Amino acid sequence: MNSIAHLSAACAPLFPCLLAQSATAQEVDFDRQVRPILANKCFRCHGPDVEARKANLRFDVQSVAFAKRGDNPPAIVAGDAKGSELVRRINHSDPDEQMPPRDCVK
Ligand code: HEC
Repeated sequence: MNSIAHLSAACAPLFPCLLAQSATAQEVDFDRQVRPILANKCFRCHGPDVEARKANLRFDVQSVAFAKRGDNPPAIVAGDAKGSELVRRINHSDPDEQMPPRDCVK
C-alpha cells in the first residue's frame, strides 16, 4: 500500500466521524481531539509559522479554522463534514487537490 492510500484510509473515516459527531453530541473538543491530528498532518503548511503557511490558511487557531475566508466558505463547518473544504480536500481523488500534498507525506 502506498503512503497516500494508507493516509487516506487513516484520515477519511476519522474526520467525518469527528465532525459529524459534533452535530449530534456537541462532545468533540477541538483542542483535545481534532487539533493534534491537524498538528501532525497539516501544521507544517497550515500552522503557526507564517513563513511556511500555504493558502493563507491555518488550523492551529480554532476560530480561524472555522471562520469564513473572504468569499470562500470556512475550512471546517461544524457538524457538516460534506460542507467542509478540509474534509473535501483530504478525501479528494485528484492528487493535485488532495491534502496533505502527496510529495510531503513521509
Ligand atoms: C506540504 C504543505 C502542505 C501540507 C502538509 C498540507 N497542505 Fe493544505 N495546502 C497546501 C497548499 C500549497 C495549498 C494551496 C494550493 C491548493 O489549494 O491546492 C493548500 C490548500 C489547502 C486547502 C484549500 C484552501 C482554500 O483556500 O480553499 C485546504 C482546505 C487544505 N489545504 C487543507 C489541508 C489539510 C486538512 C491538511 C492536513 C491533512 C493539509 N492541507 C496539509 C499545502 C499543504
